[in-house]
Amino acid sequence: MVIPEICAWLENSSVGTAIRQSTWLFPTIETVHVLATVLVVGSVTMLDLRLLNLASRDRSVTELHREILPWTWASFAVAVTAGFLLFTSSATKYYHNVPFRIKMVLLVLVGLNAAFFEFRTFRSVASWDQGRRIPLAAKIAGTVGILLWIFVVACGRWIGFTK
Ligand code: HEM
Repeated sequence: MVIPEICAWLENSSVGTAIRQSTWLFPTIETVHVLATVLVVGSVTMLDLRLLNLASRDRSVTELHREILPWTWASFAVAVTAGFLLFTSSATKYYHNVPFRIKMVLLVLVGLNAAFFEFRTFRSVASWDQGRRIPLAAKIAGTVGILLWIFVVACGRWIGFTK
């Protein structure tokens, strides 16, 4: 099996060992992880709420999309980097942890939902950019996005109670 071997190598690496043995590294990286995830979920939820006609109704969807997504992507990069560093500290334990596995699957689903929206639904945005006539596919993307993020955060917290 390749993955358990990679996990063993990660946690025995100098980075994994340092984070595990230090009293302050793990909490510091986790703080960065939490702050970045707040920005990821907060920013993308603003766009999702626009798709559901629940916020920013007087702003065009493309304008919000252009302003918000760079923040989402930048904070996502920080969240993934910090999450990966936390993972290296006890990779084998996390690899076998059920909430951790569910969280990773949910993140893949988040990506699929976003990709479907970007490459299919958003292509026709010119016809629904302004105003409140949002197509059903966009409303579904917004709803699914919000629900998936809620469960990602819940699973993130759940890891700490089951490891
Ligand atoms: C942007 C997407 C992500 C979100 C919203 C998220 C959310 C969370 C949350 C809310 C926590 C709990 C923090 C706490 O207990 O104070 C957490 C912890 C954690 N996350 Fe993430 N996370 C994300 C991505 C990742 C990724 C990609 C990885 C791994 C590669 C990861 C690995 C971890 C680990 C190892 C913990 C520590 C669990 C513990 O031992 O308490 N996260 N995450």
